[in-house]
Amino acid sequence: MALEAQFVSLSQHAEKLKDTTLRDLFANDPARFTAFSAKTDDLLLDYSKSIIDADALAQLVDLAKAADVEGRRAAMFSGEKINGTENRAVLHTALRNRSDDPVIVDGKDVMPDVRAVLDAMADFSEAVRSAELTSSTGAPFTDVVNIGIGGSDLGPVMTTLALAPYHDGPELHYVSNVDGAHIADTLAKLDPATTLVIVASKTFTTIETMTNAQTARKWISDTLGEDAVGSHFAAVSTALDKVAAFGIDQSRVFGFWDWVGGRYSVWSAIGLPLMIAIGPDAFSDFLEGAHAMDKHFQEAELANNLPVLMALIGVWNRDVLGHSARAVLPYDQRLSRLPAYLQQLDMESNGKSVKLDGTPVTRETGPLAWGEPGTNGQHAFYQLLHQGTTVIPCEFLIAANGHEDDLKHHHDLLVANCLAQSEALMLGRTLEEAKALLKASGQADDEVERLAPHKVFPGNRPSITLVYDSLTPFALGRLIALYEHRVFVEGVIWDINSFDQWGVELGKELATALLPMVKGDASADSKDASTKGLLAALKS
Ligand code: F6P
Repeated sequence: MALEAQFVSLSQHAEKLKDTTLRDLFANDPARFTAFSAKTDDLLLDYSKSIIDADALAQLVDLAKAADVEGRRAAMFSGEKINGTENRAVLHTALRNRSDDPVIVDGKDVMPDVRAVLDAMADFSEAVRSAELTSSTGAPFTDVVNIGIGGSDLGPVMTTLALAPYHDGPELHYVSNVDGAHIADTLAKLDPATTLVIVASKTFTTIETMTNAQTARKWISDTLGEDAVGSHFAAVSTALDKVAAFGIDQSRVFGFWDWVGGRYSVWSAIGLPLMIAIGPDAFSDFLEGAHAMDKHFQEAELANNLPVLMALIGVWNRDVLGHSARAVLPYDQRLSRLPAYLQQLDMESNGKSVKLDGTPVTRETGPLAWGEPGTNGQHAFYQLLHQGTTVIPCEFLIAANGHEDDLKHHHDLLVANCLAQSEALMLGRTLEEAKALLKASGQADDEVERLAPHKVFPGNRPSITLVYDSLTPFALGRLIALYEHRVFVEGVIWDINSFDQWGVELGKELATALLPMVKGDASADSKDASTKGLLAALKS
């Protein structure tokens, strides 16, 4: 069946399912959890609280086949230039390829270069961590400031927080925003004599990063002298010529390649700050975890393939049930930046409205992705999730074991809260149940009638839950790779290019044009009335 017809059939099936609630689906099938969950090693995906049945699932798997997910997956892993608008291969998987298999791009095996950069990163990290490499004053580096933005920031920030229990290197700091407050507040706490600055930028042209890098350079040279700059800087980039022009010594430059997308780059030298924090061995475990997910994605049959299943549920929720957002809710404080990381991964990849051939898409693509860790979110926006007028499918993440052995009672509470939320979203509470509860609490009849509508929960709100043993470097690598491949599969089904990001360009161009107007060096007469009015207000 052609893809369009399959979507029609899925919509018709959803129409039939309309009067069946999640409560009904669970009541009618005691084996529902087993039927609608999948596992690889200790990583479990429970999607039984999604509003699907066996027929919908089978149709969704057929949809993935019809969209040629398997063929496109093979094309990506084999180094075909699937990023057509930039004429690039998409090979973040090569960065964590732990097998001996070559990966060929333009007739060349890229694996020797990948391994060489990893080795250089390991040598540099070890030298910083052991204080074999010191600052210009001979002092050990106690602090590392990573300057980057987007993919050159979010991955290292998120993973550094996530792997705090493995952090035994210098203190890490991240500066991304061009707002001077960010770098000023960061540097104010630091001593230049013991600070190493990493400038991370794939292109080495991003204005935010270059501006922050110059400010940091001045901070070093003003206090330690111009000659000290070389000892206090390292860089990560694909643009080695531009790094040299900035004045960073070649021996402290770690390269990567145009086939690594910014938001897929944490596995490359962009991961250098993480490696400095946790050490090369733990970083290697992180890559192992991602590689394990790559193998699972390549080898598991579609109906048991975690990224494929997550993508199919995503497409079902977005295109068939019409939900325009999804909430990422890690019950894991150390994953507090995962929602921000996934916003770039998901929304920069799949926020597209033309297909690969440039024609407009015919259905909705990437949903709004957002979230906060539980349980904090419970005391903020969960009200809307439970009783608001908009249904937002939720994605819960929880470890079976925390790292704090002496605080197990905290973890038990965390687990109870996580499970309670997906249960509440699924079950809801009917008017009759609300009334019965109010009566049982001794309320008078008129109070029961008055209050009961406020205590009704519609329920039937879908969620998925990911469970893993504990948040180790391996588990984190596997988790990120899972999300990467989910985004990929959704993009294949939507027939869009998940690997370009033209949508960020227009704002950059306009900002460049506006800067002289902001500085007062050029007239704003050509601008629209609103932009002109805002400029005038800001300047007055
Ligand atoms: O926001 C656009 C973008 O190009 C992202 O894709 C990228 O991660 C980020 O800017 C930073 O780019 P660079 O690493 O080249 O400084």
